[in-house]
Amino acid sequence: NIRQSVEELLTQMTLEEKIGQMSQCADSEFSFGADIEAGPTEVLVREGRVGSILGAFNSHRTFDLQKLAVEQSRLGIPLFFNADVIHGYQTIFPIPLGWASSWNIEQIREACVIAAREATASGITYNHGPMVDISRDARWGRVMEGAGEDPYLGSLIARAQVEGFQGDSLFSEETLIACLKHFVAYGASEAGRDYNTVDISEWMLRNIYLPPFQAGLEAGSASVMNAFNFYNGVPIAGNRFILNDLLRKELGFDGMLISDYGAIDEIYVHGAARDRKEAARLSLDASMDIEMVTQLYEQHLPALVTEGKIQIEQIDAAVRRILTYKYEIGLMDDPFRYIRPEKEAEYHFNAEHLQASLELARRSIVLLKNERRILPLPQEGLLQGDMTLALIGPFADSKDLLGAWQFSRYKEETVTLREGLQAKGIADATLLYAQGSGVNEAIAGGIEQAVKTAREADVIVLALGEDSEMSGEAASRMDISIPAPQQRLAEELVKLGKPIVLVLINGRPLVLDWYEQHVDAIVETWFLGSQAGHAIADVLLGDYNPSGKLTMSFPKHLGQIPIYYNRFNTGRPVTEENRDEKYISKYLDGPNDPLYPFGYGLSYAHFTYSALKLDRDIIKQGESITVRATVTNTGNMAGEETVQMYIQDLYGSTVRPVKELKGFRKVHLQPGQSTGVEFTITEQDLKFCNAALEWVAEPGEFKVFVGTSSVDVLERTFELI
Ligand code: IFM
Repeated sequence: NIRQSVEELLTQMTLEEKIGQMSQCADSEFSFGADIEAGPTEVLVREGRVGSILGAFNSHRTFDLQKLAVEQSRLGIPLFFNADVIHGYQTIFPIPLGWASSWNIEQIREACVIAAREATASGITYNHGPMVDISRDARWGRVMEGAGEDPYLGSLIARAQVEGFQGDSLFSEETLIACLKHFVAYGASEAGRDYNTVDISEWMLRNIYLPPFQAGLEAGSASVMNAFNFYNGVPIAGNRFILNDLLRKELGFDGMLISDYGAIDEIYVHGAARDRKEAARLSLDASMDIEMVTQLYEQHLPALVTEGKIQIEQIDAAVRRILTYKYEIGLMDDPFRYIRPEKEAEYHFNAEHLQASLELARRSIVLLKNERRILPLPQEGLLQGDMTLALIGPFADSKDLLGAWQFSRYKEETVTLREGLQAKGIADATLLYAQGSGVNEAIAGGIEQAVKTAREADVIVLALGEDSEMSGEAASRMDISIPAPQQRLAEELVKLGKPIVLVLINGRPLVLDWYEQHVDAIVETWFLGSQAGHAIADVLLGDYNPSGKLTMSFPKHLGQIPIYYNRFNTGRPVTEENRDEKYISKYLDGPNDPLYPFGYGLSYAHFTYSALKLDRDIIKQGESITVRATVTNTGNMAGEETVQMYIQDLYGSTVRPVKELKGFRKVHLQPGQSTGVEFTITEQDLKFCNAALEWVAEPGEFKVFVGTSSVDVLERTFELI
């Protein structure tokens, strides 16, 4: 049995070998971020000084390193191979902020199943994902990796990702160890600047930032990674309250805790440890099991043990957790079981996986504007050459559609928007093209050429946005508008007075106010992955009716950030009646409301809501209430709608958000078709974390809202007694 085997092995291990299991190095073939001195990977492996390797991406490399570990290190303990498999491995899916917009939990889970299947075939056993940070500040580049601003939806998606990566059993050769990151509150970085100060109350932490982690832990995530920020002034990599008391004791996490890249070292850099030795002690004391890339554990734990500043039992506890998983996933009995070149050939970028990526990509697209129903474009007209389309912009024929956090060998196979339109059969004579501008720099004569091309066309499709380096880690932006050279291109094209469809490629909400005023349609496509061009062409030409809904608010102005739908009322809220008064919570120079709110997204169909009813208007503690509404497709195209249900707790012992998502349903309706939609609200749904940090449902009045976005809703009230 595993426990016995682990204990036996522990008795054979020297202190150095134990610390080796707790150390992770980046593969010398993988370079990422700051270069922290690691020494050649082969030497570290042979000497038993590392237990896991980050960034070995193919079966030849994982095989060679595993062979070294097994045959040449003294105890022959196999290695974990770790990687960031965030939105696909070789077949790339939409970035997580994009796939969250699908609100399609099943397909997100399936994307993770596929990512795990592809990654494990290369020998990767341990994922550095999913990222489940709630984020409310679009300047922060890492918003692209998460599910957006809502803890309820974020929790469902966190759970689905863990289930997708880990499957039913970690022993399967096709499942990956999941790692929930970044614990915790990393998304609350001040001013959206990466690695910056976070200072939030425990009440906010528990109500907003913690729930997705709890959901991922309930789904059985085997690992957790710390956040780079501090909490209550103590960097989390060495924060005993957050890691030991909250995560381990209160939330019952007994898996492997891994430090983010260099985070133990950074305890010292933050100025929260006298020296690096102290940083290592603080981290071990906080129960950190694995150190990523720096070698403070190796350098300092032996002396700390000798000096009695840490106990050998603390090291044993960490190694026990690591070895237990090495046994559990079958590595100890068969170190090479994941490394299967024949499965790499079968799975990587195969037709079935590409189809799954395409389907999720289509569902991740959000239609933000569609004036005069300019979309879908008349496909017949384009195919017959009766009309001409000018495809313009730096993303019109770009392969930079995968987004940050992907390491696919198949980047060059990414389907561009132009290729997607060509694949529909549109002839080159009808599909005119000009790049017009670079992403961040003008190109000589680019605008003139683009204007000339656009003059010959009936409609302009303008593909603008951010490149994949402009979001992700260490990619915060002060100004989240479309870069100036692209803006200049857009301004010149608008002067032509032709219909313009803006296709956006970006890893975060952008400020789009000017575009909302000047173009006819806006299609948000994020970074859609390997099949991006096909998915966008399907939507533009009406082969797929868009159904995505935003999971992060799009500000109207930069100065509104952070902006989120589940805000608090304040003591001086703006109302219709008082909006011109002075001493209320508003801006002098613009509205409080976002341009596009959470939950918003149009369709080529039109959905009308009616008959919102509750089966009772008073419930007692322990009871539930049934909410029913009717949704009708009053448009002339079949389509899918995400029916959203929110509540508002009108008063409590602490303030409560003006709206909180508590459920949603997908309905697919033919033109003219109606359907009833039903939700159940239980006492559990009414709970929140109060000032005493207890989860309670307090008696009082509630509103319930059902509608097509967080703003466009019908409402009723009920009372909990
Ligand atoms: O997993 C990531 C983490 O999210 C940010 N820093 C680098 C790590 C590399 O694996």
